[in-house]
Amino acid sequence: METTNQVNNRGVCLWLTGLSGAGKTTISIPLVEKLREMGCKAQRLDGDVVREKLTPDLGFTKEDRDKNIERVTFVAELLVRHGVVTVCAFISPYRAVRQYVRKETGKFVEVFVKCPLEVCEDRDVKGMYAKARTGEIKNFTGISDPYEEPENAEIVVDTSKMTLEKEVDTIIDYLRENEYIF
Ligand code: ADX
Repeated sequence: METTNQVNNRGVCLWLTGLSGAGKTTISIPLVEKLREMGCKAQRLDGDVVREKLTPDLGFTKEDRDKNIERVTFVAELLVRHGVVTVCAFISPYRAVRQYVRKETGKFVEVFVKCPLEVCEDRDVKGMYAKARTGEIKNFTGISDPYEEPENAEIVVDTSKMTLEKEVDTIIDYLRENEYIF
């Protein structure tokens, strides 16, 4: 049997939310790689890239963050409709807008990439927490802007306690058990 064009998945929007530096991008890269190896169609949509290419006009007020997520939702919904596992990594700090993505995309799995603020700040991968503390960066999530934790995320991965491999496996297992991938 010809298997090269076989697609081993349904479309789904996998939504990674969490603080800056929690590990959303770090998880999404090997996750998409693994999904593709398994014969799934998978695509990443990442906050840093989207903000450079799709929403460079937007800042970090609540209004702009919501607009950012609304535009991403438009793209994600198209991908999901065409059968792609769409892995979105955005802080998306507001519960209401995440609920909006859930409704619009139809098939939605929320992943709370959990990590204590102190750990994210300690990692300070991009040096932005230090700037947020001095006030050089305004409206910084967790420091001078809110983050509303998910209350009913389908998956929670605590990146201060788990290994990256275990986090990726947890997500893959959930997708398999719920028949988004086969
Ligand atoms: S969201 O709130 O609209 O979902 P998004 O995930 O796209 O945010 O972008 C977050 C990225 O923008 C962070 O990883 C960080 O590199 C950068 N950034 C710049 N300013 C801020 C800020 N005030 N708050 C949070 N992130 C910021």
